[in-house]
Amino acid sequence: MQLTPEQVKERLDKRGFLALEIPENLDLSTEIKRLKKKKNAVLLAHYYQDGVIQELADYLGDSLYLAQVAEKVSNETIIFAGVHFMAETAKIINPNKKVLLPDLKAGCSLADSCPPIDFKKFIDQYPGAHVVTYINCSAEIKALSTIVCTSSNARRVIESIPEEETIIFAPDKNLGNYLIKETGRDMILWDGSCIVHEAFSFERIVTLSKSYPNAKFIAHPESESQVLEIADYIGSTSGLLNYVQESSATEFIVATEAGILYEMEKRCPKKMFIPAPIQDETCACSECAFMKLNTLEKLYLCLEHEKPEIKLSNKLIEKARLPIIKMLELG
Ligand code: 13P
Ligand code: SF4
Repeated sequence: MQLTPEQVKERLDKRGFLALEIPENLDLSTEIKRLKKKKNAVLLAHYYQDGVIQELADYLGDSLYLAQVAEKVSNETIIFAGVHFMAETAKIINPNKKVLLPDLKAGCSLADSCPPIDFKKFIDQYPGAHVVTYINCSAEIKALSTIVCTSSNARRVIESIPEEETIIFAPDKNLGNYLIKETGRDMILWDGSCIVHEAFSFERIVTLSKSYPNAKFIAHPESESQVLEIADYIGSTSGLLNYVQESSATEFIVATEAGILYEMEKRCPKKMFIPAPIQDETCACSECAFMKLNTLEKLYLCLEHEKPEIKLSNKLIEKARLPIIKMLELG
């Protein structure tokens, strides 16, 4: 049934996705592949998505890789299986494309921890400071930035700023503290964090490591400093993937969102990956509830009806674009 644009608008319910019935027995993966072709759409997916969505992706990667891809793709439509700031970034760097996000409520605790009005007041206290923002923030925050970074290139971005200059780093204080140690730069930090990476339990990781004495403990830099201090390797999602592939170890305790294990197991079927334990003893791993809002059903409906779409004013795109382009030019 083809709906009129008015009907589609009506059914875009308050939860941020199209609440429509899907015919029974529909093979959603096949339908999604068909719709991608029909609509000249490209599917970009982050490693934190469910495996079934990762399998459908035309491009699968970390935040930096997906931003690089979004800048270059020639398809009419980009459908993003990730969170809101990722789809927003794609729209900012490739504004003539239609950018779709299966559920507009797929936010990010880090992005939410940095409201633009408060952040503007914060940076105004340090006139002349370079404002380096982690890509996990809203378009409004990017528009207030000197340069954007991701966990893959943060060190390179910080080191591109002359040593005598003042740096404000936002919104992730854990990544910020890690970078201060790595680069020796004394940065002013915004007090934000990721609920998924702050959930890891230092005590339970130590106990688990004793049961797996040969396992390497690897962590994403959004984790707390106490956890990072005991890590054998710290890196972005793609960094962690490269590490497990290249390491001679065969067992790994992994402190990042559990979706990454799907690609790790695929690339290294003979190695063992154990999700790092979290403080809540009733859960086996840390999952990002925002990332997991994307489902096959929502992907299908989003492609079929080309909604929900990311919409940004030209003025905001113009302002937020420069700091992202600066980052992309650093490589
Ligand atoms: P990377 O993809 O840069 O590793 O970041 C992880 C993350 O938290 C994305 O939301
Ligand atoms: Fe945001 Fe953390 Fe989820 Fe990444 S894992 S999208 S930083 S809440």
